[in-house]
Amino acid sequence: RTDEELTTHKDATRYNNFYEFGTDKSDPARNSGQFQTDPWSLVVEGEVGKPGIVPLETLLAPHDLEERVYRMRCVEAWSMVIPWVGIPLGKILKRFEPTSKAKYVSFETLYDPERMPGQKRRVLDWPYREGLRIDEAMNPLVILAVGMYGETLPNQNGAPLRLVVPWKYGFKGIKSIVKIRLQEEEPATSWNVSAPREYGFYANVNPDVNHPRWSQARERRIGSFGKQPTLPFNGYADQVASLYS
Ligand code: MTE
Repeated sequence: RTDEELTTHKDATRYNNFYEFGTDKSDPARNSGQFQTDPWSLVVEGEVGKPGIVPLETLLAPHDLEERVYRMRCVEAWSMVIPWVGIPLGKILKRFEPTSKAKYVSFETLYDPERMPGQKRRVLDWPYREGLRIDEAMNPLVILAVGMYGETLPNQNGAPLRLVVPWKYGFKGIKSIVKIRLQEEEPATSWNVSAPREYGFYANVNPDVNHPRWSQARERRIGSFGKQPTLPFNGYADQVASLYS
């Protein structure tokens, strides 16, 4: 839990990236209102002893949920502080019994252009895909979130289930997940496929490595004036730097 001031609920729900509902920051709030997220199931497959299709309500019991207040850093050099509600991803993955060949975890968003109209335009390689190395995925900071600000996730923030990896740039936080696959090879990821020179697989927040088109040294905290320095691993170096030794 960071003790920094929370971003307002209004900013966190009206300034979003969710290209399935449009590419402007205000589009997801405007266009996702009718998106149906109930019923919802998650497929877990690949290098696991117990693959399955699990309805969301059996995947997460209310007593599993905890609140985590995380600093989030978008690759576009802005940041927010958000109280997420979720469960560590590692706890969930263990239930499916990863095999020794499970070196990476790949995630996929729903693909349904009728329900997600932004997918009718080829602005990204759909479905949105992201990935983590298995030791990253098992790190206790990583959560699968189903809520924020003490409430169910709003559609524009990735309902009903999204990834939160606080030491990486925000694009790793894939929304509206329908599939998780454990595998031996590094998975392809949407932003890396679309612009390999700009977005790598690891995407750890690093103020010393600039994006090819802008600096990553500082960030604008949404809701405040001016800029502040960006921290290595977004301030979570104590917990995660050793993953990259
Ligand atoms: N997930 C999907 N499926 N589609 C997206 O366009 N955008 C990513 C990430 N997850 C995105 C996504 C980016 S670039 C960011 S910065 C975060 O979501 C933004 O999350 P927020 O809108 O909840 O702040």
